[in-house]
Order: sequence, then C-alpha cells, then structure tokens
Amino acid sequence: MARRPLVMGNWKLNGSKAFTKELIEGLKAELANVNGCDVAIAPPVMYLAEAETALAGSKIVLGAQNVDVNVKGAFTGDISTEMLKDFGAKYIIIGHSERRTYHKESDEFIAKKFAALKEAGLVPVLCIGESEAENEAGKTEEVCARQIDAVINALGVEAFNGAVIAYEPIWAIGTGKSATPAQAQAVHAFIRGHIAAKSQVVADQVIIQYGGSVNDANAAELFTQPDIDGALVGGASLKAPAFAVIVKAAAAAKN
Ligand code: PGA
Repeated sequence: MARRPLVMGNWKLNGSKAFTKELIEGLKAELANVNGCDVAIAPPVMYLAEAETALAGSKIVLGAQNVDVNVKGAFTGDISTEMLKDFGAKYIIIGHSERRTYHKESDEFIAKKFAALKEAGLVPVLCIGESEAENEAGKTEEVCARQIDAVINALGVEAFNGAVIAYEPIWAIGTGKSATPAQAQAVHAFIRGHIAAKSQVVADQVIIQYGGSVNDANAAELFTQPDIDGALVGGASLKAPAFAVIVKAAAAAKN
C-alpha cells in the first residue's frame, strides 16, 4: 500500500521569535505548490505560539520535540500533551537519542510518553537507532528491536497504527555522515519486518522516516528506497531552501 511520506524538521535548541517567523515565511513560500508529502516542523516549545500564528492557512503542520507523561500538576519544567494540543501541535518527537543520552530517558519511560500521546490523539514520532559502537558490534537490529518492543510490550503492536518511527543511527546525527541509502533501507526493512511479525497491517501503514544528516544533496537518493517514508531532519531544517529541496524530493520519489 502507498504510504504518504512525512518530512519533519527538528529545530532542536535553535531559534528565536524572529527566526521562527522568518523561517516559516520562507517555508510557506518555498512549499506553496508542493503536494504529495506531509510536512511538519518542531520548533522549541517556547516558540509554538509564534509558529502557530505564522503557519495559519498553510499545510505545514506543527510538532514538538518532547512531551511529559503527566497531564497536569506538580511537575516543574514539564510540558503536557494538552498544552501541545492547545497550540495545534500534532507530531511529537519522543525518544530522540539526545534525550536518551542527556536526560537518561529509558525505553520504558519513552513507551509511557508514547501512551500519553496516543491517549491524547497526538502522533508519536518515535526515534530509535544504534550508537557507533553498537553498529560496529553488529547490534543495530538488536537495539532497534529492543526500542520498538518497549512500546509493543507496553501497548501492543496496534499502538503503531497512525504512528511514526524515525530510524536515526546516532553516528549519523549531526555528523554529516549519513547512512547510505542501502544501509538505511536494510534497517528500515528490518524494522517493518519486526512489526509485521506481529501485524502485517500495522507494518504496512507505519511511516518509517530516516534521520541522520539528511540534506538537500542526499535526500533524493534516500527516498528511492521502498521502506524510507520520509525524513526527520535536524541541521538542514533550519534553512528554508534546503528543507524545501528535501520535501520536494520526497514528494517526487513517492508519487
Ligand atoms: P541532523 O539531525 O539532520 O542534524 O543529523 C537529525 C535529528 O537528530 O533528528
């Protein structure tokens, strides 16, 4: 079955009010006539209000980079699903390797975030992927399976209906060292197969993005691969022309 590609920008800890407005104006101009690809951006939550206003009337969808498992109460510094919904955010990144590393987020905790998002009717963008050492030790599939199984064990495979997985090898994030299309495709096929072992129907519809140094020069080739359904883009999402090239490449390759 045909899956509609999703290209999402992860701005990480970058931007300002002015930058948010300017980048979104640039994206709106560049992408006005592009169809056949869903597009989302995840600015820092500080700028969701500016982003929501700037995105009015555009098909670009708002997202966020993280969420807490609690909906309200004494949880200093956290942001809830309801708050994100209040700004119209839909695609919410969880389990990014930077959060797994710097904030010690476990597979089980990330599965709870996945549950909170499903409960709220939001779309989890679950980041998974192996470190360089794990890759060299031949543990890529084992790590990806473990990170996916944490969600399946807690919520069942059906939780991946309408959800997004971003395969992001940690050695490729922010390094300029993207996985090759063939390397990425092999892991994407493994991930889809792992889910298909529980439910072919769920596996056929789940969006599996590739992330890790996707840019305007390498995107088109990555999107030729059958199990690469779009991209989660960090650095190259901070420049409207580069991000637009990636979106257009996905729209062209998948339609
Ligand atoms: P990158 O980041 O495109 O800068 O490698 C991707 C990500 O971390 O989502």
